[in-house]
Amino acid sequence: MSEKKTPVTLKTILIGNSGVGKSSVMNRYVNHRFSNMYRATIGTDFFSKAVNVAGNTVTQQIWDTAGTERFQSLGSPLYRGSHCCMLVFDVTSTASFSALDMWRKEFLVQGEPQDPSDFPFIVLGNKTDLSNREVSRRKALQWCEEIGAEYFEGSAKEDPDLEKPFLKAAELGLKQY
Ligand code: GTP
Repeated sequence: MSEKKTPVTLKTILIGNSGVGKSSVMNRYVNHRFSNMYRATIGTDFFSKAVNVAGNTVTQQIWDTAGTERFQSLGSPLYRGSHCCMLVFDVTSTASFSALDMWRKEFLVQGEPQDPSDFPFIVLGNKTDLSNREVSRRKALQWCEEIGAEYFEGSAKEDPDLEKPFLKAAELGLKQY
């Protein structure tokens, strides 16, 4: 009798301050759409997408969390079971970049990854289409090097697909599976 293979589902969670564009980057990646309207995420949303990682088709579940403090207490159950964490900031907001250290620590405490020192983080600088940039690529890369994270930047508004950070999340997440 042939053994049934369990389908692989990889959970990628998006965290970061309110308004940095978490819902927008997810919407761009999953639906190839963008809206200028701001609608705060209430609690969480998640979407699934089939992706190919090293010749295997896996289901990538992308969890979009609320950046407002009101919903931060929801963190712990939402963070658990993640295979990769994407820390999102807005390149026009130094405050949103500085907050990533807090978000990362919070994830490590509440998400309880098996091996915190080896857990994959991806940092995504969003809104590169705007001219009033405050956080340089160099500064972001420097911090990513310190914490051992992969760095990507782009624009949910103008990038046609924004696939690279998500495909990297699937690739790194698969190693955690
Ligand atoms: P919370 O749900 O409150 O945590 O916010 P969020 O991080 O999900 O932000 P959201 O995706 O709702 O985007 C906030 C605002 O920024 C919206 O008005 C978006 O249209 C806008 N926005 C998001 N991404 C971009 C981008 O790449 N460029 C520009 N110019 N605006 C963007």
